[in-house]
Amino acid sequence: MARATHSFPASFLWGTATSAYQYEGHGLNTDFYAWEQEPGRIAQGHTSGAACDWWGGRWAEDFDRAANDGHNALRLSVEWARVEPKMGEFDDAALDHYRQMVAGLRARGLTPLVTLHHFVNPLWLADTKRNGWEHVDVVARFANYVRRVVTALKDYVDLWATINEPNVYMVSGWLMGTFPPGKKLLAATFNTAQNLVRAHAAAYRVIHELQPHAQVGLPIHFRPILPAQPGFVLDEWVAENQFKLFSSFFLDALTTGKLRRPFGFATAVPEAKGTHDYVGLNYYSADVARFDVTNPQELFGRRTFPPDSEPDGSGVYASYPSGFMESFKWLEKLRLPIYVTENGIGDEADGLRRRYLVQHIRQMWRAVNFNWDVRGYFHWSLVDNFEWERGWTHRFGLYALDPATQTRTPRPSARLYSAICQSNSLSSDIVAEHTPELLAGMFPG
Ligand code: FCB
Repeated sequence: MARATHSFPASFLWGTATSAYQYEGHGLNTDFYAWEQEPGRIAQGHTSGAACDWWGGRWAEDFDRAANDGHNALRLSVEWARVEPKMGEFDDAALDHYRQMVAGLRARGLTPLVTLHHFVNPLWLADTKRNGWEHVDVVARFANYVRRVVTALKDYVDLWATINEPNVYMVSGWLMGTFPPGKKLLAATFNTAQNLVRAHAAAYRVIHELQPHAQVGLPIHFRPILPAQPGFVLDEWVAENQFKLFSSFFLDALTTGKLRRPFGFATAVPEAKGTHDYVGLNYYSADVARFDVTNPQELFGRRTFPPDSEPDGSGVYASYPSGFMESFKWLEKLRLPIYVTENGIGDEADGLRRRYLVQHIRQMWRAVNFNWDVRGYFHWSLVDNFEWERGWTHRFGLYALDPATQTRTPRPSARLYSAICQSNSLSSDIVAEHTPELLAGMFPG
């Protein structure tokens, strides 16, 4: 018998998170595909190519892997461009393909969580004549597409995510210019934010009209920001405002019906108030922020990783487990169920990932034991996949992928995660076997 066992509630969902563009391959009819073709957009000139070849049918073998590893859930997304390749023209064969996928999940005992938009658009929407997410028309267009998808999949799916990480999407596409449309324009950023919130609210209503018992959420990339010198008023001010603009901006809109920008400006979005049934938490990392008058683009702050964190080498993420607990603590105040819709680390060698998994799941167990309503955990990700502007240079899979041969190789973390899913717990035995370096610190005596 293990010395100690951290158990999770009986109905807890354990799975992985994936997205259409990063897994399906050959998403030719999309804005991201066009973006990839432009020189300098993607690290080392990488392209998504066949990705994990899910559109070619390899979803089935990957769903088998998840089921054999004892997962009981999986998050995937639907590609708008496949379902509505031309404006107003829907492709029944594509809808049927997704229907087979979600039926395939159910057949393997995996609960599907389906995301309706994950960073990527059909070319016709992104076309400069329509102006994509900057034009208010997108709200009705998105709702129309959502109606088709939900009608097609609702026999199998009742857990939905509308728009993945509107905060990352807004910042990457309109403020930093690292995603299409590649703008760096504050005014367009806020315009887009309004349309994202309105489209989410419209989708929420469509889903509930078609499926009253649905659970609908809006996954947010939640990144706690700590002041570099606690108590120093300028660092505190920067940390608070950066946090408000990135992590709590959209959640605040769903709570108050207002999109509140820094420095007091607010736009009313009353239709968004109360439009989430659960909180979707995507947690990877945290930052400390220091006041820096020379950096107005980031609200006069300069961010670095917390000193006691473990960076993954990408410059974007570092393992900082206590930030996960901080996130639960903040989100719990919304008094809604919480699903961890993403959590993970890019680590080809897989030493850091094992520690990351154990330490983050331990923090989640603490949250569960405060009776906070955490209902499931989706690790990003099942298989290495096309990591946006970082191409194939940043590997998040429990399974390593050779994109050229489509060969999958389990990393040690796949076995570790499987042991957790299968036992619905994190025990001292699991830690002793997979991350012995953590045993004494976690289970003293
Ligand atoms: C998140 C995205 C997801 C993946 C991970 C690593 O921000 O939602 O698609 O790229 O980061």
